[in-house]
Amino acid sequence: QQHYRITLLPGDGIGPEIMAVAVDVLKVIGAQFDLSFEFTEALIGGAAIDATGEPLPTDTLEKCRHSDAVLLAAIGGYQWDNLPRHQRPETGLLGLRAGLGLFANLRPATILPQLIDASTLKREVVDGVDIMVVRELTGGVYFGQPKGIFTTETGEKRGVNTMAYTEAEIDRIGRVAFETARKRQGKLCSVDKANVLEVSQLWRDRMTQLAAEYPDVELSHLYVDNAAMQLVRAPKQFDTIVTGNLFGDVLSDAAAMLTGSIGMLPSASLGEKEPGVFEPVHGSAPDIAGQNKANPLAQVLSTAMMLRYGLNQPTAADQIEQAVFKVLEKGNRTGDIMSAGMTLVGCQEMGNALIEILKQP
Ligand code: NAD
Ligand code: IPM
Ligand code: MN
Repeated sequence: QQHYRITLLPGDGIGPEIMAVAVDVLKVIGAQFDLSFEFTEALIGGAAIDATGEPLPTDTLEKCRHSDAVLLAAIGGYQWDNLPRHQRPETGLLGLRAGLGLFANLRPATILPQLIDASTLKREVVDGVDIMVVRELTGGVYFGQPKGIFTTETGEKRGVNTMAYTEAEIDRIGRVAFETARKRQGKLCSVDKANVLEVSQLWRDRMTQLAAEYPDVELSHLYVDNAAMQLVRAPKQFDTIVTGNLFGDVLSDAAAMLTGSIGMLPSASLGEKEPGVFEPVHGSAPDIAGQNKANPLAQVLSTAMMLRYGLNQPTAADQIEQAVFKVLEKGNRTGDIMSAGMTLVGCQEMGNALIEILKQP
């Protein structure tokens, strides 16, 4: 029997609601595949601030380091928005990513045939969409120095962030992207703003250099403004996209709507040595928190990514993805993916329906 130590970070808002569904799913999967999961819960984000004053307590980072994989739900909420930067929930999440060296964030946007009518885009535009966004996660304008709010000589305040990438940072995310594209349709689109930004010029030069090592992958480049437009105009032109931290954040939310809802999008944050963090692309959805309205499927699909990329259990991952497929096939829909003729269910009911399917022989 394989034994896995999983750190659970439920966080804030809808986090605990969707995490409960994922844990139920893992328990059933564990029994079926003879895997034993040892769950340790830890605090992050607003929940951690309320309990300890810090968004990422040392104890949480240590627990994550000593696990085989980390399953994160979401952090953030209005009540913590006015705290100083170092005490914000988002700072805890960034600290976790940096602390574990998770430079590569894989965000797949795949439309399930059952959800074509849930997308705000036309059927013929989204039918067949299957995109992998490879987002750089520990560099760029999120982390570049200098950063801060400074006071100028005239006494005026000036907010500063710095978008910076070293060649080594670009190369390592580039390699992940080329390898990813190679296993998919062999098409990689690098997204930047090289017409304006020096950091993007270096990004483009390095990606072009790297392409020589991957002759089986077809590399193209787009400016980020055009890429945003192309994603909604004709998303099927994309296979794998590689981009920096901020552009990847924005483009992955846009890509989410191709699949029907941000409530469907999972992600895997991977580094070199430390365990990976598996988390939905969406946030804590404070507008629907505590109302049993959240779609738990992005969390459940993140759990599948954990099994696939973090624990090397691809068959168990397939099983979960198949169950998601079937639960939608049966017409179950949370509000965010609701369409005519379907059955509106809550977060818990969606979870129960999934468990029922997983338990069927
Ligand atoms: P959000 O992703 O939380 O919500 C955007 C919209 O999508 C809301 O209307 C929300 O109700 C809806 N939504 C999101 N997830 C859903 C789900 N699973 N089911 C149904 N509907 C869903 O983004 P926001 O409102 O801009 O941010 C809210 C908070 O979350 C902020 O504090 C932000 O910093 C934080 N955030 C955290 C993460 C993370 O933990 N990885 C990601 C994004 C935002
Ligand atoms: C995400 C989120 C985070 C990000 C925030 C909450 C720090 O939007 O995971 O997409 O910008 O990376
Ligand atoms: Mn985001």
